[in-house]
Amino acid sequence: MSTARFITFEGIDGAGKSTHIEAVAGWLLEHGAEVVRTREPGGTELAERLRELLLHAPMDPLTEALLVFAARRDHVVKAITPALKRGATVLCDRFTDATFAYQGAGRGFDLNVLTQLEQWVQHGLQPDLTLWFDLPAEVAAQRREKARVADRFERMDTQFFERVNDGYRARAAADPVRFFRIDALLAPHQVAAQVVSVLEARGC
Ligand code: TYD
Repeated sequence: MSTARFITFEGIDGAGKSTHIEAVAGWLLEHGAEVVRTREPGGTELAERLRELLLHAPMDPLTEALLVFAARRDHVVKAITPALKRGATVLCDRFTDATFAYQGAGRGFDLNVLTQLEQWVQHGLQPDLTLWFDLPAEVAAQRREKARVADRFERMDTQFFERVNDGYRARAAADPVRFFRIDALLAPHQVAAQVVSVLEARGC
């Protein structure tokens, strides 16, 4: 299996992925890689502006899906593809699996349309490895209570996040080689150990 260089981090809000992205970046730097850390929605000036709208402005599901993919297009063209071309390792906090999980499974938006948009925007570009931080919706809700002011997604109820979890589960089942499920119920040091073991196994 070739070295994973485009690595994405997924999971419902509160699953704890952000802490581990930081750790992965440090680990890769120690191993001499050029690391580009980025996020979605966002990662470019334009996409960060779209992120503000997505997280805070009321909109219907189609507008939401189109904006997510518009932001992604800018991000792919200006940031991700150039970084991969020059040999950097790209760590991206969420990517298209989040769209299938949140807009698709969560909001109930047509998965066929999302698949078409994915093809249009990415022309086959997919992460080499996706670390999915899997946490029950109830536990994530408790963790989120302690966090900062909630955005439009974080305010959604537990049933919504159960559907989002189902969405991630379906994406993982459809692509078991790319996906690695992390049990986010474990203690942080155990989660970190799982992350390091998969990175080593994938030649990072
Ligand atoms: P998140 O990673 O949770 O940012 P932060 O940790 O800074 O709050 O991402 C922001 C939100 O965007 C998250 O609630 C999920 C949502 N989102 C979608 O609904 N669809 C998408 O395609 C992406 C990338 C994110």
